[in-house]
Amino acid sequence: MPAHDTTTRAELTDPVEENRALQATESRVAIAGHPLHAMLVAFPIALSFCVLGADLLYWWTGDAFWPTAAGWAAFGAFVMGVIAGVTGTVELLIVPGIRNRSASWTHFILAVMLLSLMGANWWLRVGQPAEAVLPPGLLLSLLVAGLTGVTGWHGGKLVFDYQIGTSGGASSRPRG
Ligand code: HEM
Repeated sequence: MPAHDTTTRAELTDPVEENRALQATESRVAIAGHPLHAMLVAFPIALSFCVLGADLLYWWTGDAFWPTAAGWAAFGAFVMGVIAGVTGTVELLIVPGIRNRSASWTHFILAVMLLSLMGANWWLRVGQPAEAVLPPGLLLSLLVAGLTGVTGWHGGKLVFDYQIGTSGGASSRPRG
């Protein structure tokens, strides 16, 4: 029998699976078990696409209403994004099963980059909503919408693929 065959399956257990504390992934920043983060992220996601839509409508129509609407939507996206980010960060830091999975930190890094860009997209427009749109505001809105899609998709992956934030316990075996 070759030397490598002497290694038994029992010796190849996943260290994360062995530690029961690391299986605890249930959300603690929640109302009746429903994570606040999941409730709040809908706002920055929707508002960042509203900013892009308003910028495109200004480009198309030239109507001064749209830059004003885009400025307020950018402000709302940033503020609600920060509030959602705080709930996600508390979750990340206090729940061992979330903190100990690299996918959670990937989501955090994506989200912090996104929040910085959302802040810039709002700040650029303060006091000069119309002048800011073409082209820097529109380009920034495109970037924010794209990164919002990636970050939101990745957040969904945390929940649906890794069971992070759920009460059923995490799967340590990544899929896809
Ligand atoms: C800034 C730091 C952030 C951290 C640390 C964070 C962390 C998390 C965590 C731990 C989850 C798993 C579910 C839970 O435990 O609540 C999650 C889910 C999710 N996150 Fe974040 N997040 C952050 C910001 C954001 C932002 C800005 C967005 C907006 C695009 C976002 C979008 C999502 C989505 C869509 C889910 C899936 C929710 C569901 O379907 O239940 N996250 N996030």
